[in-house]
Amino acid sequence: MMAGMRVTIRAPRPDDVVPYAEAVRRSAEHIGRWNPVEPDGLPDLLSRQGVGLRTFLIFDRESGGLVGKCNVANIVMARFRNGVLGYDSYVPFDGTGRMSEGMRLVVERCFLSAEQGGLGLHRLEINVQPDNERSVAMARRLGFRHEGFTPRMLFLQDAWRDHERFALTAEEWPTPVR
Ligand SMILES: CC(C)(COP(=O)(O)OP(=O)(O)OC[C@H]1O[C@@H](n2cnc3c(N)ncnc32)[C@H](O)[C@@H]1OP(=O)(O)O)[C@@H](O)C(=O)NCCC(=O)NCCS
Repeated sequence: MMAGMRVTIRAPRPDDVVPYAEAVRRSAEHIGRWNPVEPDGLPDLLSRQGVGLRTFLIFDRESGGLVGKCNVANIVMARFRNGVLGYDSYVPFDGTGRMSEGMRLVVERCFLSAEQGGLGLHRLEINVQPDNERSVAMARRLGFRHEGFTPRMLFLQDAWRDHERFALTAEEWPTPVR
C-alpha cells in the first residue's frame, strides 16, 4: 500500500467485489454521464489484470471507504512505456480532494521503476470529453499538458465521442501540488 495524506492506493482484490458494487451503485448518477456504470464489473476487471492493464483502488485512510478507481490501460513497454489513465470517484468522497490525492499516488506509482515497485512508465495519457469539466480539471491539477483533439475516439453513451488528449512524461513529474 502506498499512503497519501488522506488516502492509500492498492491493487483490487476479490474481497473488494461487494464494496465496489455498492460504491458504483451509490455513484451511478455522478459517473453515468461520462463513463459506463458497471457495479458488477470488478470480477471481470480482476481477471483482465496483466502487463497491459493495472487497476488501482483508492481508499480513505480514516474510514476505509472506497474513494475511487483508476485503470492504467493500454500499457505498452519497449520504446514507448506508455499507459492511459481512466478514472471514477465515488460518492460520498467525490469533490473532497481525496480523488486528486489518490491520482497523484497512481501517477507516482506509474513512473517509479519496477525495482522501486512501480510500473516503469515514461508517458501517461488522459483522454477527456471536451465538456467534462471536472475531469479536465483533474488532468490539469495533476500537471498534464493539453496535446490535442481526437475526434470520435471512444464509444460511450451509444456514440463515438470526441476527446481532448492530455499527457505527462516522467521528466515533468512531480508537478507542484495544486
Ligand atoms: C472526474 C472525477 C474523477 C473527478 O473527481 P473529483 O471527485 O472531482 O475529485 P476530487 O475529490 O479530488 O475533487 C476535486 C475538487 O474538489 C475540491 N476540493 C474540495 N476539498 C479539497 C481538498 N481538501 N483538496 C483538494 N481539492 C479539494 C477541489 O477544489 C476540486 O473542485 P473542482 O472540481 O470544483 O475544481 C469525478 O468527477 C468523476 O468520477 N466523474 C465521473 C466519471 C468521469 O468523468 N471520469 C473521467 C472520464 S475522462
